[in-house]
Amino acid sequence: MDRHPIETLTSFGKRARDIQDHLFTLYSISLGMKAKTVLEIGVRNGYSTTAFLLAMKETGGTLWSVDIGPCVRAAKRLDEMGLTKHWKFILGSSPQVLRKWKRTIDICFIDGDHSLAGVTADFNYCSRFVRKHGLILMHDSYCPSNVAERGAFGVHLLVSDLRTRRELEVVTLPYCNGLTIIRKL
Ligand SMILES: C[S@@+](CC[C@H](N)C(=O)[O-])C[C@H]1O[C@@H](n2cnc3c(N)ncnc32)[C@H](O)[C@@H]1O
Repeated sequence: MDRHPIETLTSFGKRARDIQDHLFTLYSISLGMKAKTVLEIGVRNGYSTTAFLLAMKETGGTLWSVDIGPCVRAAKRLDEMGLTKHWKFILGSSPQVLRKWKRTIDICFIDGDHSLAGVTADFNYCSRFVRKHGLILMHDSYCPSNVAERGAFGVHLLVSDLRTRRELEVVTLPYCNGLTIIRKL
């Protein structure tokens, strides 16, 4: 019998420490929105990828993942877990890939280049394709104020700016490095 998705995500335990507490959220939001097209920027170990793919298995949607590295170990593990049917991996840098992008997106998850310039470019490119009431999720968006004051953490700085925009709803879950959920109104 298949393991329940929540059990699978829990089993990553300490290995996924920097994102573990958000994996249920990524899975549940995708399921709740019945997301059919999800774009992920940044795969590395494939933890967020697993959460989205477990949801895509249930919604019948497709996860498109972009990374500048081949993410061979993540791909192998996802294959062993039987999750690659709903996965399309694109090797390349996000601006390069997004310049050619054409599909409407239900959810875009940004966890790639964390510099202010990099994450801003990712946000600007992908937000054009996210549908009305669709979501843009950003990991690593929360840091203690003393770090933010030193000008570190591009994601945190971008999120501070996005909070001022009336066309967006912005909520940050302030734990496990932060997950910001942005809804296009
Ligand atoms: C923090 S890791 C992603 C972790 C992953 N979301 C997880 O849950 O395991 C960041 C990844 O983004 C990739 N990356 C960095 N800049 C990028 C860019 N401009 N375009 C695509 N991928 C990028 C890196 O190669 C790295 O694999």
